[in-house]
Amino acid sequence: MSDDSERSPGLDPAAIDPERPHPARIYDYLLGGACNFAPDREFADRFLAVMPAAKTAALLNRDFLRRAVRESRAAGITQFLDLGSGIPAVGNVHDTVPDARVVYVDSDPIAVAHSEIVLRDSDRAVALLADMLDTDAVLGARATRELIDFEQPVALLMVAILHFVAEPEEAIRRYVEALAPGSVLVITHGTGEAKLPGSDQVLALYAENGTPGVDRGKADLLALVEGLEVLEPGVVWTPQWRPDTELDGRDPRESMAYALVARKP
Ligand SMILES: C[S@@+](CC[C@H](N)C(=O)[O-])C[C@H]1O[C@@H](n2cnc3c(N)ncnc32)[C@H](O)[C@@H]1O
Repeated sequence: MSDDSERSPGLDPAAIDPERPHPARIYDYLLGGACNFAPDREFADRFLAVMPAAKTAALLNRDFLRRAVRESRAAGITQFLDLGSGIPAVGNVHDTVPDARVVYVDSDPIAVAHSEIVLRDSDRAVALLADMLDTDAVLGARATRELIDFEQPVALLMVAILHFVAEPEEAIRRYVEALAPGSVLVITHGTGEAKLPGSDQVLALYAENGTPGVDRGKADLLALVEGLEVLEPGVVWTPQWRPDTELDGRDPRESMAYALVARKP
């Protein structure tokens, strides 16, 4: 897997614009990471000024990701395809499940370059530079074919990515088609249904930046996983999905995102 084109099917690893805030690096900044540039930090600070809960929301999203990954492992799944994996913060999939085989996929060259550094000594996890909508590139990449056995269940993670994707329906259908029964889709999705002040301004900020967000509600998410079995407790605010700590009276809507796990029968 040393061939660069194998690791970046369809996308240019050099296509980085540090002047334009990027969702991966904005999110990294919200999580307290160091893999971001001044324009990303400025954008995030404008975002935080209208919606101070955004930092909490990012942390709650990561907590959910870890719980869902652990639950997937408890259900016997050891293979993970993480779409929109971002800039690895503490507690990534391969840290949470040490015996996992993981393909991380992101369309941001910086996120992938950073993942490659973290994963340089691993023979169980790789990072691919690809657009999740390019299902042939993701599913057909040599790294994917070497690490993932599609005859066995896979956890397909689409955590905090779909709100950046206008029309994911066909891609989701193709991924689900490729997965074995018993596989799960793990999703979080930002939503205006949280009805927190500032959400319209945040959407306007992203649109102005040229990285528009898509606001979906519970019914839209259920439509995306139609035909799959939505596991308990259904579509809930991220901290309400099988919590392992007390919420301490905090409003779960501070997560600003719904979470769900759906299983292929
Ligand atoms: C908010 S981050 C989420 C990171 C991680 N999944 C998490 O929840 O902690 C969203 C990520 O999705 C990536 N992304 C957005 N659209 C994408 C696409 N069409 N294909 C692949 N990655 C995409 C961004 O580059 C970014 O790294």
